[in-house]
Amino acid sequence: MRSTCQHPKGQSLHNTNPLHSAANAEAVLQKADLHEDLKKALRSVKPKLLIDGEFVDAAGGETFPTEDPRTGDVLLDVAEAQEKDVDRAVQAARKAFDHGPWPRMSGRERGRLIYKLADLMEEHLLELATLESLDNGKPLSVAKSSDLPEGIEHLRYYAGWADKIHGLTIPTAGNMQAHTYREPLGVIGQIIPWNFPILMQAWKLGPALAGGNTIVMKVAEQTPLSALRVGELALEAGIPPGVLNIVPGSGSVAGAALASHKGVDKIAFTGSTEVGKIIMKQAAENVVPVTLELGGKSPFVVCPDADLDAAVECAHQALFFNMGQCCTAGSRTFVHESIYDEFVKRAVKRASEKAVGDPFDESTEQGPQVSKEQFEKILSYIEKGQQEGATLEYGGKRIGDKGYYLEPTVFSNVTDDMSIAKDEIFGPVQSILKWSSIGEVLERANATEYGLAAGVFTSNLNWATTLSRGLKAGTIWVNTWNTFDAGVPFGGYKMSGIGREHGEAALSHYTQTKSVYQPLEEPLNWNM
Ligand code: NAI
Ligand code: MG
Repeated sequence: MRSTCQHPKGQSLHNTNPLHSAANAEAVLQKADLHEDLKKALRSVKPKLLIDGEFVDAAGGETFPTEDPRTGDVLLDVAEAQEKDVDRAVQAARKAFDHGPWPRMSGRERGRLIYKLADLMEEHLLELATLESLDNGKPLSVAKSSDLPEGIEHLRYYAGWADKIHGLTIPTAGNMQAHTYREPLGVIGQIIPWNFPILMQAWKLGPALAGGNTIVMKVAEQTPLSALRVGELALEAGIPPGVLNIVPGSGSVAGAALASHKGVDKIAFTGSTEVGKIIMKQAAENVVPVTLELGGKSPFVVCPDADLDAAVECAHQALFFNMGQCCTAGSRTFVHESIYDEFVKRAVKRASEKAVGDPFDESTEQGPQVSKEQFEKILSYIEKGQQEGATLEYGGKRIGDKGYYLEPTVFSNVTDDMSIAKDEIFGPVQSILKWSSIGEVLERANATEYGLAAGVFTSNLNWATTLSRGLKAGTIWVNTWNTFDAGVPFGGYKMSGIGREHGEAALSHYTQTKSVYQPLEEPLNWNM
């Protein structure tokens, strides 16, 4: 379990210098002025499609570059799945489901193989964390202490479920035996984003694998590397070929091909609400179930009794963790009017002290944003915030002239109608709003199309309970933020999603129930 109200801790690997662009992976690495450990991590990846247990090129040879967000330079060229490659992957997953050992082996054996994958990820923790930081830009200290351990924990949690998935015997009216089986759904299409690549992969793999399904996973085009390495470790663990297929590629081609494929029995998606709607429409054509984990505009309500320094730190971490690129970002900081001015002053001080820099420096708290597209989107919101009349208290500008580094940014005097209070910015931009009564803040906090998370900071039991019950969101954090546990359901109200990840709730999305009726010839006799 982690809470991002604490400072991330970890050890430094070393300093790094920019990579140079080049088409060929080894040529890039040869020339790159890059620490040997980073090159070693990159060399561990097979930048291809994983289909039926083999790392293969796209049939037409297409590739796409994955970038180093510190510089914008190419890290590696990765095979780019097209429609026919996705089709190959779905066929491999179908074959593994219909004829392979995975759904047929005992749950205990499946669990053992998932545990083995978790063990291998632990053995390769530094290598995987390095890949994650290189591809995504997140501080290595955070990848090592948070993303990797949580992903591994998640797999272990579901490994433990694999032999505990079973049906029921149900009493019926009449002389009838009735019981249920919980069976896997079949081939699962999973589409994941770039903000927590390895963690999102683990969240999706855990319940799908434990349930005995086979998978085609479309990883984000910004961050394909760590997932591919995990795919190789899954094979090494003994998870049979075809059970986990990975197709890096674009959303509009590979993602759309997967979401609309007639051979897929369920779609699970994490990403923007906009794309979530498209996925749902595509799934409707094939009448397959969909789970969606989408965006948010989560309110964090600071009450007048709050320990101010603790509340400022928690609100800061709630928004700035992972460079603000969290679906759960506490992106509306509601502060009571009696402490508002002092809170803003301290929030600005905290933001101004933030260590922004190379993700491989030990002291770094904030690395670059993931991509040029996201970087520009955030800058445009900062501009809109100023135009619409919010007070820019701190930051707002780019740092340096290469890569996607941004100043931690704080706005005060933000009102509900402003774009920065309504839209998901997905960046290091804190918006501080003022409130005066519990009834009013509850209504305002809920006045959003989203409902992923919400939080309250107070020692007053009455306020904590009233707000926890009144806030319309799938997760409520009281005096903490971004605390997760593999066993506790996580998902969205309203347009933040459908279904739940984690816990038994997620497993139920990856199995289906079969009911069996069997008339008995003799009347039931308990004395027999
Ligand atoms: P996105 O929703 O476009 O991408 C997420 C995944 O969906 C990626 O793997 C992408 O390739 C895939 N995808 C995109 N279009 C698709 C389509 N038509 N069919 C099937 N798959 C498709 O998110 P993007 O463009 O990376 O970021 C845009 C915004 O979305 C962000 O600024 C942020 O507000 C939000 N977002 C939310 C996330 C969350 O965790 N809820 C994660 C990433 C982005
Ligand atoms: Mg997109």
